[in-house]
Amino acid sequence: MAKIHVPDENREISDVQAMREFLKPFGIWYEKWDVAGRVGPQATDQEILEAYSSEIERLKAQGGFVTADVINVNPATPNLDAMLNKFNKEHTHSEDEIRFTVHGSGVFHIHPDQGPLFSITVESGDLVNVPRGTKHWFNLCSDRTIRCIRLFEDSSGWTPHYVENGVDRQYAPLCWGPSYLKADSSDRSRFAIEIAE
Ligand SMILES: [Fe+2]
Repeated sequence: MAKIHVPDENREISDVQAMREFLKPFGIWYEKWDVAGRVGPQATDQEILEAYSSEIERLKAQGGFVTADVINVNPATPNLDAMLNKFNKEHTHSEDEIRFTVHGSGVFHIHPDQGPLFSITVESGDLVNVPRGTKHWFNLCSDRTIRCIRLFEDSSGWTPHYVENGVDRQYAPLCWGPSYLKADSSDRSRFAIEIAE
């Protein structure tokens, strides 16, 4: 279940309707998809796309997305740190970043032009979009594992454009979850800190 954290206001939001209302002015929508029993832990990418085809087709129809794929990241992923380092620095894209988390967890930090910086911790069943042009960055949580469905209008539009204003280094990569794992927040490529509820 997703959670929003507004660090500068020491505020946390976990109620679904309250999250949607908070995110709406930023053009971000949140959906909770049913995940129980739909795919097993060994499901192939194709089996995941087939299991969630009705939701994917609905989003394609309403959002202009033309393609979907599955990204699978875990500690055994080759060059994992190099991959994570691409996304844990503040950046924008020229198209929306749409992610449905099938398995694992992660945290998006969103840096709006108007309004407070906030994070969205996502886990299995959570779908969020990061609108085009929105400054953001992404960290994995301590298990360094996430399996996501991604939707694209044009996969070339997802190239990161880095902001490089240092804001990302002012915020520890906090994952809001059931366990707290103390981590060195300067080691941003490895994992995010988890904080007890
Ligand atoms: Fe991104």
